[in-house]
Amino acid sequence: MSQRVLLDTDPGIDDALAILLAVASPELDVRAVTVTGGNCPLSAGVANARAVLALAKHQHIPVCAGVALPLLRPAFTAAETHGASGLGYAVLPPSDAPEAREHGVDCIIREILAAPGQLSLVPVAPLTNIAIALRKEPTIVDAVKNVIIMGGAVRVDGNTTSLAEFNFFVDPHAAHIVLTSGMPITLVPWDITRDVMLHQKHIDRLLAIDSPLTQFIADATRFYLDFHYASFGIAGCSINDPVALALTMWPDLATTQSVRVDIEYTSELTIGKTVLSYVGETSHPPRDTDMTGFAATEWPATWRSMTRPPHNVQLVTHFDSETFIERFVQRMEALARMIPA
Ligand code: RIB
Ligand code: CA
Repeated sequence: MSQRVLLDTDPGIDDALAILLAVASPELDVRAVTVTGGNCPLSAGVANARAVLALAKHQHIPVCAGVALPLLRPAFTAAETHGASGLGYAVLPPSDAPEAREHGVDCIIREILAAPGQLSLVPVAPLTNIAIALRKEPTIVDAVKNVIIMGGAVRVDGNTTSLAEFNFFVDPHAAHIVLTSGMPITLVPWDITRDVMLHQKHIDRLLAIDSPLTQFIADATRFYLDFHYASFGIAGCSINDPVALALTMWPDLATTQSVRVDIEYTSELTIGKTVLSYVGETSHPPRDTDMTGFAATEWPATWRSMTRPPHNVQLVTHFDSETFIERFVQRMEALARMIPA
C-alpha cells in the first residue's frame, strides 16, 4: 500500500523539486500540496505549485492555499534565493486545472483525520499552516502518522541570519507551537540539507533527456546555483526540501537522535534560533587506569542541559546524501522520459 503524504510548501525552487520527487515516486500517494507565504508570497506560491504539478502531468492533485502571513511577524520573502517568481529563471504555463476551494489548513486537518495513523505530513515551509491546524483541531497530534519538517539550524550558523534558518526565522511563533505540540516530529535541519547538493553535472545529465521537465529543472536551478555561488562561493545548490520528502519512503538514508529542540521567539536579536538540548548518556573513552584523567583529548559535543527538558523531536544527525542524490536524479530522469518535448 502506498504511503499517504501531504506536502506543506512555499514554492520555491527546492519545494518544486520536492513536489516533483513526490509525484515521481510510486511509493507515495500524494494527497495534496498546501501552500503558505515564505520564499514568495502566497498567491505566487499557489500558482507555482499548480504549474509544477501540471508540468508533471499531475494537475489532479489539489493545491490548497493556506495562511498568507506569519502569526505575528511581518511577511519575509526570499526573492534573492528563488527569484521574483519563486522558480528562478523558469517560466511555466499556468495550470488549467480547477482551483481547489478548500483552505490549506482545513485540507491538512481533513487528510490527517481521514486516515488516522497513515498520513505523513511534510512541512518544508514556515510552519504557519501547521500551527493554525493544531489550534483548530488538536486531535491531529495523535492522528498524524509522522511529521517530517525541514527547518532549523541546530549546530551550524543560520542561512537567513547568523543564527536562524529561513523556515523557522519567518514564523518562529508557529515553529514554537509545532515543536511543543507533542506530534511525532522528525526534524531535518539546515545542518544536514545544506550538504545535499545538485551540481551542474547532474543538470547536464538531466538535459540529455529532451523534456520540458528537464528544461524546467535546469532553468530553476540555474538561478539557484548562481545564488549559492554569489552568496557562499559554492558550486552547487542545496536541495533542502526533497530531503524531508525522501524520509517518507527512504527513512534508512537518515540517522536520528532523540533530543530537545526549542525556538527563540522573543528576542529581536536572536529570533528564529533553534536551541538544542540533549538529555542522556554521552559515550566517551573510558577513564584511564591510573585515574590521572580521562582518555578523551577534547570535549565531546554533548549539548547537555542541566534543566533536563523532555525530548520532543527525532533530529536527523546524518544523511546518505550521495545515495539520495543518485536516486533523485534517476527519479527525475524517469519522470522526464514520460514528458517528452
Ligand atoms: O532554509 C531552507 C528552507 O527555507 C527551504 O524549505 C526553502 O525552500 C525555504 O523555504
Ligand atoms: Ca521551502
